[in-house]
Amino acid sequence: MKSLVSLSAHSALPPRSGQLATAGTLAGIALPHVHAAGSDQVNVALIGCGGRGGGAASNAMNQSGPPKLVAMADVFEHRLKTSYDTLKRKHKDQVDVTDDRKFIGFDAYKGAMDCLKKGDVAIFTTPLAFRWVHFKYAIEKGLNVFMEKPLTADGPTSRRMLALAAEASKKNLKVGVGLKSRHSRALQELHKRIQDGEIGDITMLRGYRMQGPIGSAFSTKWPGQPGELMWQISRFHSFLWASGGGFSDFCIHHVDHLCWMKNAWPVKAQAVGARTYRTSPDGAPYVDQNFDSYAVEYTFADGAKMYMNGRNMLGAEPVYCSFAHGTKGMAIVSKQGDCGRPSSTYRSQNPANESLLWKSKEAKDGPDDPFLNEWAALMDAIRNDKPFNEAASGVYASAVTSMGRYAAHTGQEITLDEFLNHEHEYAPGADKFTFDSPAPVQADKDGKYPAPQPGIKTKREY
Ligand SMILES: NC(=O)c1ccc[n+]([C@@H]2O[C@H](COP(=O)([O-])OP(=O)(O)OC[C@H]3O[C@@H](n4cnc5c(N)ncnc54)[C@H](O)[C@@H]3O)[C@@H](O)[C@H]2O)c1
Repeated sequence: MKSLVSLSAHSALPPRSGQLATAGTLAGIALPHVHAAGSDQVNVALIGCGGRGGGAASNAMNQSGPPKLVAMADVFEHRLKTSYDTLKRKHKDQVDVTDDRKFIGFDAYKGAMDCLKKGDVAIFTTPLAFRWVHFKYAIEKGLNVFMEKPLTADGPTSRRMLALAAEASKKNLKVGVGLKSRHSRALQELHKRIQDGEIGDITMLRGYRMQGPIGSAFSTKWPGQPGELMWQISRFHSFLWASGGGFSDFCIHHVDHLCWMKNAWPVKAQAVGARTYRTSPDGAPYVDQNFDSYAVEYTFADGAKMYMNGRNMLGAEPVYCSFAHGTKGMAIVSKQGDCGRPSSTYRSQNPANESLLWKSKEAKDGPDDPFLNEWAALMDAIRNDKPFNEAASGVYASAVTSMGRYAAHTGQEITLDEFLNHEHEYAPGADKFTFDSPAPVQADKDGKYPAPQPGIKTKREY
């Protein structure tokens, strides 16, 4: 049996309910209906109708039942319209969103959630700055939730979300978080094998998310429209308040599943990071808050290390995979991507064929879609009233990722306790935003936003 390292300072670490609750659950298999609200029909409302929102709503409607989409909310009308048209084409009879159930604006989430009954599911796929606002309202209304990663970027909202997570459990609400690795069948089997001691005690973990610039991580000057707040929201990877920046948004899957393999959260981090290039290929200055390179060293309570490398740089070698090393061997956790098959274990520290112990199914062996599996787990919990709340674990994964980013941005070592207790809130008043609110970060006279300066700004990221 593996020694399980727990954080004494965080003894409130959540049980891995997501993983337990997925056991034996398969997408597409009809489940007995024991819906808590006494009705068989589970409805969903989509809040944040972008790329992932459309994907999550579609994943929901692919579950047995099947669930219906009955309301949508966004701050941009064109995003809602495009998402509605796409979803309606794909899931004709399950999309029942009349015009009076389409809501636009910063309080649109209330309108959409007001269309649900107790036991239905609200989907949160906006940038993370609004998670606590939307989660709070869902809990008040007794709604189940599916929310995308990351959940927080700073100390104050991490603490707030942990309190909300506890409240959701008290109300027996079911909460899924889009840290999808935990619902990959390959990673679930690998996790079990590691817990059973197949590669010994874990001493080192490694994650790599190195690629060209993606999403909205790099931005040139605000063009003057839409309003600055709305523009920052539409380029959320560029702004720490909105997304935690590129490191948090892109690296969290690896940070989360590597910590899961270790069954612990690291207690501290130190890091190096820098922005090598601050000019776009056509010569315009970049004004966002991201570095383009991050190398974070995390330390666990037992001294084990986790290294997470993140890079967004054209022409540099792309690497996108993760590994676990133990006293008796190693594992490829994600062969390619966030949690791409096959996972495998070896009796040596090199992944050589002759020392192969086990290999999971591969893509050619049939589907294992973690996006569908995570919904199957959530729906199973709802219909059969099983405990299921991934929120606290999702907050820890978010805080640990942010702690690494913070260490790189300040040039200082930081503990998880210090990060969680930090007082700098990046988007104060996110629950009161209107279209005319000032953006949480303001540009200087050259249109540049406050960038981290390691060694100079050491107590705050900016
Ligand atoms: N699990 C995964 O693998 C995965 C993949 C992609 C994205 N994501 C996550 O999903 C979230 C959304 O990412 P995306 O790529 O879909 O971005 P996106 O920009 O395509 O979509 C976000 C949508 O939210 C809307 N929005 C912003 N603020 C809002 C508010 N206050 N109220 C209502 N709507 C609001 C935006 O207008 C937009 O339509 C991010 O947190 C991202 O990290 C997760």
